[in-house]
Amino acid sequence: MSIFADIFWDLMDYKSKINAEKLPKHIAIIMDGNGRWAKQQGEQRIFGHHNGVSSVRDTTEAAAELGVKYLTLYAFSTENWNRPKDEVEALMELLVMTISKETETLLKNGIRLETIGDIDSLPASCKYQLQEAKEATKAGDRMTLVLALSYSSKWEIVKAVKEIAQEAKDGKLKPEDITEELFAGKLCTSGMPDPELMIRTSGEHRISNFLLWQLSYAEFYFTEKLWPDFRKEDLYEAIYNYQNRERRFGKTSEQIQ
Ligand code: FPP
Repeated sequence: MSIFADIFWDLMDYKSKINAEKLPKHIAIIMDGNGRWAKQQGEQRIFGHHNGVSSVRDTTEAAAELGVKYLTLYAFSTENWNRPKDEVEALMELLVMTISKETETLLKNGIRLETIGDIDSLPASCKYQLQEAKEATKAGDRMTLVLALSYSSKWEIVKAVKEIAQEAKDGKLKPEDITEELFAGKLCTSGMPDPELMIRTSGEHRISNFLLWQLSYAEFYFTEKLWPDFRKEDLYEAIYNYQNRERRFGKTSEQIQ
């Protein structure tokens, strides 16, 4: 490349640099840093969660516009139930309010809402709103937005194992029938492709009980940005970074080329 082409390339925004042929089909995000963001503003933690909704909207819109097929957001973990009661209640209220406000937009944009996690453990108002939104958007075929709610990977794996054990006990399944495909089919994400890219905001380098099975071969992208500051351009940068990695799946570099 000439020096001018190099300079031109450097000036281009990340969106223009994304290769549409190499888009991840599924992106999973650990939205982290709402509390710290609020503290920086001298506000209560819930102020951070409220502002995090704008990032959810922006990221969902950007992913759908690009042509990503699945976007999974870690909105509430099993462990989050241990937070102060006020914060848990405020988060649940925010969830109900946001889902009810955004269902129309999801519908208009062909986005289907799905959930993974122990949905039965959520408050009744939350379950109701989610059910309504899932039903209303079920025909959406542009992108599936998956909310992980009261979710943890260990919970999901134990649940799958129990189901398999029961089927074996009932004589419906033999040990040799248990394959990776059968096991994946018992997880909450059954039927979805595994995420190729996992993003975590706020500078933490942890997986926090999120999609342990499904992220086996995902590329991890960590950013210092706190979730309420995460915008479309940040998603484009993460995808561009992902597209410039060599994914070897256990093979050698020469075998890939
Ligand atoms: C993590 O930040 C964030 C959460 C546990 C909740 C995420 C919720 C939202 C963005 C709002 C609603 C979401 C939807 C999908 C409508 P943290 O509180 O752990 O931040 P900290 O690490 O700085 O304390």
